Amino acid sequence: MASTGSSPFPKWQLAILLGAPLAIGLGYLYLRNRLEDPDKKKLSELTAKTTISLDKEEGKDSKATESAIDRAMKLKGAGNRAFHAGEYDKAIALYNQAIETCPPDRPVDLATFYQNRSACYEKREMWEQVKEDCTFALKLNEKYVKAFLRRSRAAEKSGDLVLALEDVTSACILERFQVQSSLINADRILKALGRQHAREALARRRPVMPSKHFIKTYFAAFSEDPITKISLDDNDIGGFAKAKRALTSQEYDSIEDACTQEIDDNGKYKFEALLLRATFYLLLGRHEDAQSDLAKVIEGETSTKLKVNALIKRASLYVQLENTESCLEDFAHAAQLDPRNSDVYHHRGQVYLLLERMDEATSEFAKAVELNPDFSIAYIQKCYADYRHAQLNKNVGALTQVRADFERAIEKFPKCAEAYILYAQVLSDQQEWGRAEALFDAALAVDSNNATLYVHKGLVQLQKNTDFDKAVKLINKAIEMDDKCDFAYETLGTIEVQRGNLKRSLELFERAIELAKTELEMTHLFSLKDAAAAQLKVSERWGLDWTVS
Ligand SMILES: *[C@@H]1O[C@H](CO)[C@@H](O)[C@H](O)[C@H]1NC(C)=O
Ligand SMILES: *[C@@H]1O[C@H](CO)[C@@H](O)[C@H](O)[C@H]1NC(C)=O
Repeated sequence: MASTGSSPFPKWQLAILLGAPLAIGLGYLYLRNRLEDPDKKKLSELTAKTTISLDKEEGKDSKATESAIDRAMKLKGAGNRAFHAGEYDKAIALYNQAIETCPPDRPVDLATFYQNRSACYEKREMWEQVKEDCTFALKLNEKYVKAFLRRSRAAEKSGDLVLALEDVTSACILERFQVQSSLINADRILKALGRQHAREALARRRPVMPSKHFIKTYFAAFSEDPITKISLDDNDIGGFAKAKRALTSQEYDSIEDACTQEIDDNGKYKFEALLLRATFYLLLGRHEDAQSDLAKVIEGETSTKLKVNALIKRASLYVQLENTESCLEDFAHAAQLDPRNSDVYHHRGQVYLLLERMDEATSEFAKAVELNPDFSIAYIQKCYADYRHAQLNKNVGALTQVRADFERAIEKFPKCAEAYILYAQVLSDQQEWGRAEALFDAALAVDSNNATLYVHKGLVQLQKNTDFDKAVKLINKAIEMDDKCDFAYETLGTIEVQRGNLKRSLELFERAIELAKTELEMTHLFSLKDAAAAQLKVSERWGLDWTVS
């Protein structure tokens, strides 16, 4: 999450790294290869079945059946004309007759009639009837793409996102992922379902304090943090003083109560206490509590530094809640109050990066660095934003400049792991694997306990020569070092989807979800998990075996 400064890689980048921009596309990459492999009989049977039954149907020529089917076909034709004239009730009546007339040994035609009738119900927005008719059609013709797509639309409209996803997944598989509109529908449903699952999970979840490392990194992302800057007398026994000592000694669990004491006493540091308490509410994912405290600081009679810090934090919260407009309003307000505070530009730059508004991101980071050239994190993120900008605009000259800037960053901040990591990322994009690996090793020398570095090394192996085994080995090493490394579980889950190990991938995504810190992260992870779950369900129904042999 950009706004917490926890990871230089927004999560969506992983999918791009692995070559699939849509979550639903991940397993498909793998399945597509299998479908194109002539030896994989099971999968070719998939489409063969429908063709066979059609052939058989056409071979029939019993006289009585023929006339019954002829009549049914005529009724259907009349139904189609009524449908196109917008006379849906008349069309429904005609399709009803076609269904009644249709002989039982013509299941594929009968499926069409149900499908035709459901088109009328769809026009009438009668979603339950649409679903029912599509279900009839699918019982008669289990590989009927149109029925899957229509039932998916009706399910989406009536709020049954699980069915909507499963059906669109079936359609995508039958269409061999060649139909863009189905993939786009799948992606939209996945995002909505992921968000729904994330909210449900968050409502159930007991707030957990993030790791000490995470909290330290979070505070370090503010160069002008007004709370760490205050120095207090050791003998001060006020609530805020207690909270501040707990912050220094990393005893984070006692901070909330100490702040509350200061606030209830209406003490001298009441606003500082509100800001600190809000910060921990943010870290715990208690959004409403955080928002209420931050509003008190922003609207209260207090210093500009406190207000600006509160505005930046509230803006970042708005990003998580996907309220971009309020987020940018808060940043604008902060910039107006304190135009020389580099934190405002640095954090706003991260938001623009997340929104892929590269022009704005680069100019924000440039401003942050200009105001505070010794702040390593802003400096390096500026380099990275410049890189993304150059890459998007295919500007070779700018790319050369970015590399020189990164080299300078490493010299200037040799203890900053982020500098090595982001530069390594740039180099592996440029397919300079050896140099990228060396940089990840250099980062390990600076930050040897950082498990995510092994995940990055694993990703290089994947990009370099699709070496899944080597990548998995490295990522497992990350988990050994830190069994709370959510990035490792997510990456491994994504790899297992691509290798066709859907069941294993579900476990891994589940684990990553338990560790996710923000709603955005959870939404993304649930989308991955839901996509894998839908593919597993469809493949079990059709007896597809995706595992690597
Ligand atoms: C009825 O089904 C046929 C065959 O699939 C199709 O060509 C026709 O467009 C359908 N009519 C409607 C109204 O959906
Ligand atoms: C690992 O390194 C990345 C990049 O420097 C940093 O964002 C992250 O917080 C670190 N994590 C741990 C657990 O050390």
